[in-house]
Amino acid sequence: MQGTAQKGTVYLVGAGPGDPDLLTLRASRLLASADVVLYDDLVPDAVLALCGEQVERTSVGKRCGQPRTTQTGIHRLMIDNARAKKSVVRLKSGDPLVFGRAAEELAALYEAEIPVEIVPGISAVFAAGAAMQLPLTDRRSASRLVLVAGHHASDKTAAPPLWTGVLPPDATLAIYMPGRDPAAIAAELRRAGIPDDMPCVAISRAATPQQQVQAARLHSFAQLSFGASPVLVLVGRAMESALV
Ligand SMILES: C[S@@+](CC[C@H](N)C(=O)[O-])C[C@H]1O[C@@H](n2cnc3c(N)ncnc32)[C@H](O)[C@@H]1O
Repeated sequence: MQGTAQKGTVYLVGAGPGDPDLLTLRASRLLASADVVLYDDLVPDAVLALCGEQVERTSVGKRCGQPRTTQTGIHRLMIDNARAKKSVVRLKSGDPLVFGRAAEELAALYEAEIPVEIVPGISAVFAAGAAMQLPLTDRRSASRLVLVAGHHASDKTAAPPLWTGVLPPDATLAIYMPGRDPAAIAAELRRAGIPDDMPCVAISRAATPQQQVQAARLHSFAQLSFGASPVLVLVGRAMESALV
């Protein structure tokens, strides 16, 4: 079959936002044919159900700073399985190159001289925009799309600010891993020079049957309470229609 997983190769594969219909055909062929799948916590059972019967599945998820397997342990699992002539899918939510530690994993695989292929997935920002019918850019109001990480779960004390300097007024800002405190996000947005009337949207479990959306202008954003994780926050004039 075209596109089946090759022995000795590691595939960094995007699982999309959680709906199996939003996987690429390439991802689903690799899941069907791989020997080993190493997956993150955000990958739901409905996606894992596409794994072939032969697949040895291992959860290597990290959540709330509690790693099930260390990052070095994940590198070891990928490398050892590939050297044992197994085909390995490293399955990550969304797109593997967006806030997914791909840089570290690629560096480890290159150093070990393991063949690697990257299969893109639908990142949370695109899934959320589509599910809510919200354009992320709009030539009248938003000509940039900025993706930022709200916090680094494994090293909370060193969390950098969302943004330094003043945010361009024509940007749509997508905040991944926003944490659980809307007041803290609102304060950061104000510090970045965002005006009080800016539309802000918090989307919980985008593109899944459990999706929940909350929207407010920045002056009221602190009063929202985020839905269940994972949550993505979108900020910008292009989000205006979410407020009606
Ligand atoms: C470690 S990052 C991984 C991002 C992923 N690689 C991507 O491209 O979407 C995890 C964050 O992605 C966001 N996220 C992932 N899936 C989501 C979903 N279905 N709905 C809302 N946010 C999601 C959340 O902000 C979550 O904290």
